[in-house]
Amino acid sequence: MKIFVTGGAGYIGSHVVKALGRAGHDLLVYDNLSTGHAWAVLAGQFVRGDLGDRERLDGAIADFRPEAVVHFAASIQVEESTRRPLWYYRNNVVHSLNLLDAMLRHGVRNLLYSSTAAVYGIPERIPVTEAAPLKPINPYGASKVMVEQVLRDLARAEDFRYVALRYFNVAGADPEGQLGQAYAEATHLITRALKTAKGEFPRLAVYGTDYPTPDGTCLRDYIHVNDLAAAHVLALERLAVPSPPGPTCAVVGDTPSSPGQGGGAIPGTAGESGRTAPASQNEDAGTGVRAGEGIVPEEAGDGADGRALVMNCGYGHGFSVSEVVAAAKRVTGVDFPVVYEGRRAGDPPALIADSTRLRRLTGWTPRHDDLDFIIRTAWDWERKR
Ligand SMILES: NC(=O)c1ccc[n+]([C@@H]2O[C@H](COP(=O)([O-])OP(=O)(O)OC[C@H]3O[C@@H](n4cnc5c(N)ncnc54)[C@H](O)[C@@H]3O)[C@@H](O)[C@H]2O)c1
Repeated sequence: MKIFVTGGAGYIGSHVVKALGRAGHDLLVYDNLSTGHAWAVLAGQFVRGDLGDRERLDGAIADFRPEAVVHFAASIQVEESTRRPLWYYRNNVVHSLNLLDAMLRHGVRNLLYSSTAAVYGIPERIPVTEAAPLKPINPYGASKVMVEQVLRDLARAEDFRYVALRYFNVAGADPEGQLGQAYAEATHLITRALKTAKGEFPRLAVYGTDYPTPDGTCLRDYIHVNDLAAAHVLALERLAVPSPPGPTCAVVGDTPSSPGQGGGAIPGTAGESGRTAPASQNEDAGTGVRAGEGIVPEEAGDGADGRALVMNCGYGHGFSVSEVVAAAKRVTGVDFPVVYEGRRAGDPPALIADSTRLRRLTGWTPRHDDLDFIIRTAWDWERKR
């Protein structure tokens, strides 16, 4: 398939591009390199361009004539989104509209969209199914909800199909050592812990030790970036299956596959003061800005109408911040300093995916569901940098 990939020079995009290249797809990566790197594009063509540059974007799509688009490009730092909301809405929402405009103008009707567990805010039930209310608590999460809403409406109004993948905590690096997270300001817990082990930060701060979790620190669902990449390859294959043409107004009731029990745990992560590594559980941690009462998705996105499919991507179980810190010390052999701070606003105690739908509809089976393996691949990458 000919696939146009926005943000394919970034952390997740570069791993997915490598996997799609291996699967035999013909790729063009469109990226402004604001946080990505041209060296990370290991398959296909690369065009340096900004989604805000409508002419360049339009020209790139017109020339390449893709059959599908994978849309990773976004600004992803939760804390920053609370300080620069306008920028987050512009880059994540307005620029996504530019992309959708260009796609429709050139007859490209298939989209794979990078969404996030941040759309759920602080979920009432764990594990979280796709039917959970969308209650983002920061501009970053709200911007992703807005784009999902646009996609829902577009799939009703036009001959347009999409899959939105809601990633949980993406971590780890290419086991072949060619790729990894290479954004200096990354605040992900594992990356921050490893940078602390390396001596780039004097200590790692953990936020909150009194959550309703077994050890009092937050629980998160860490998914290895290559397992996430495999989910993209499978989701694109599903997107390629033809569906009846023309707009549809089908409204499909959702069936939560496993409601699970509420409560749980988590927030925790690293600090902000001094040069203490300010790790967040993922790009989704951060300060709480309440954005409305929550949207209950009235249309399932469960794929039943063949046009709209929303799927969680996670392993379905989690590790606490303390467990991750212990694993990072074990894997690196470095007993780096950790400071325990109070809770930070906006950190849900627990964020664990119910990924039943992804497994059922695509046949996805994780290969790297092993915290030490995730950390070892990230450490191998970090040490080379
Ligand atoms: N990292 C995570 O844990 C995580 C979790 C959930 C969802 N996501 C989503 O996954 C996607 C990729 O995240 P990532 O961790 O790889 O981030 P990243 O910052 O490494 O990658 C984003 C890429 O998009 C590019 N980009 C940003 N704005 C652009 C613009 N206006 N025009 C062109 N290119 C632009 C950047 O240069 C970069 O290469 C994002 O949409 C993010 O919201 C990430």
